[in-house]
Amino acid sequence: MKFFIDTANLEQIKEAQDLGILDGVTTNPSLMAKEGISGKEAILNHYKTICEIADGDISAEVLSTTYDEMIKEGEELAAIHPNIVVKIPMIKDGVKALKYFSNKGIKTNCTLIFSAGQALLAAKAGANYVSPFLGRLDDISVDGMNLIEEIRIIFDNYMFDTEILAASIRSPMHIINCAKIGADVVTSPLASILNLLKHPLTDSGLAQFVADAKKMD
Ligand code: G3P
Repeated sequence: MKFFIDTANLEQIKEAQDLGILDGVTTNPSLMAKEGISGKEAILNHYKTICEIADGDISAEVLSTTYDEMIKEGEELAAIHPNIVVKIPMIKDGVKALKYFSNKGIKTNCTLIFSAGQALLAAKAGANYVSPFLGRLDDISVDGMNLIEEIRIIFDNYMFDTEILAASIRSPMHIINCAKIGADVVTSPLASILNLLKHPLTDSGLAQFVADAKKMD
């Protein structure tokens, strides 16, 4: 399973990259705004910087919602760096844009996926990734993990190459359950990745080893 980090924060991207486990980055307009990035030039520059820091696929989301505008914007984003993946919302014009970029060999990530039918449509249109939002489904008392399972079954039935990129991750348990089901990628805040490290028995075991090692000095 690939690990992406879901942030536009450069320090957190560096930290995950330095950990040696990072396979890519996802962003969205809300995450970019959180970092105070605004204006076309600043946005393009920020994506360029992210591409210089992190290896792997870097999702850059279009801000427009009509076909013509998404094509123009997506082409500009794709021109920044070969690792850019154009992130397109799951709307009717978005499906058409996915097909356009697929025909042009530009990688895409279809975002705001909340149903298996939406994932199927995005895969049919040639999306490289679909991003089902687990946490936001859990927030409204719908089992987000069940959606990952449904998409896994459908993509396996027809051997779609589209990768399931589990998004809206809120906890290390989301990551573990995605790995059990067979999501191809999990994109997560840094905190959830780092929480995978933690176990009290590791801490107490290490404290004991360090104490015993001192006796051997
Ligand atoms: O990048 C999309 C997704 O991961 C958003 O997560 O926490 O805003 O639901 P969240």
